[in-house]
Amino acid sequence: MRMILVGPPGAGKGTQAARLIDTYGISHISTGDMLRAAVAEGTELGRKADGFMKAGELVPDELVIAMVIERIGKSDCENGFMLDGFPRTRAQAEALDRELEKAGATLDAVVLIEVPDQLIVERITGRRSDPQTGRIYHMIFDPPPEEIADRVVQRSDDTEEACVARLQKYHGETAPIVPFYEEKGILVRADGVGSPDEVTERIKTELEARR
Ligand code: AP5
Repeated sequence: MRMILVGPPGAGKGTQAARLIDTYGISHISTGDMLRAAVAEGTELGRKADGFMKAGELVPDELVIAMVIERIGKSDCENGFMLDGFPRTRAQAEALDRELEKAGATLDAVVLIEVPDQLIVERITGRRSDPQTGRIYHMIFDPPPEEIADRVVQRSDDTEEACVARLQKYHGETAPIVPFYEEKGILVRADGVGSPDEVTERIKTELEARR
């Protein structure tokens, strides 16, 4: 199964991906995580991406497309993958299509997690993650257990200012790819408001209905 998770920043793409990949036995590919790892390692890609990410801007298409094409060619993607945070522009969506066509593969579903803007800032500014396990928490909605509370960290782009910039980018550049997938008949809409369990059930129900 080859799937994409789309949605505004803080919609719950990472949270839902972690719950869904086991169900479908596929690899989770988060471009945000890959780029943050490149920044932390100080690679050439990381040095180029760092400023864009801190400002809530998109990293240039050519860098992200090359990174994803290399990643989906790896052996752990043979059974499928769940792309989280890619594509984010029309150029990225078209590049992915071309790559899949070359490989004789197709996309099965594009899941759009819908959350209104007014809930996003609270979700983003309250997010923390455990650097040891990668598990995502929220200080109000899903607080970390006491024994790890001292080690959870906040992302450098999870400020209110960067969040507003990310939301603008989402509406300006990423939301327009939704009709592209709707026309192909593979778009699945899921209401992202409610508990993470409720959202997971909604997504699974929609996906099962299409199988
Ligand atoms: P990326 O890491 O992809 O960030 P994003 O899309 O802004 O998404 P987030 O990771 O912020 O949110 P999420 O939807 O995964 O939500 P989460 O599950 O964590 O990208 C970061 C940057 O990298 C970009 O700004 C850009 O610069 C660059 N980049 C990445 N990909 C790129 C690309 N393709 N092209 C160009 N540039 C690219 O949840 C958020 C919080 O809410 C958590 O605290 C969680 O616990 C909580 N939560 C989750 N679900 C619920 C719920 N149902 N109810 C209550 N709280 C919830």
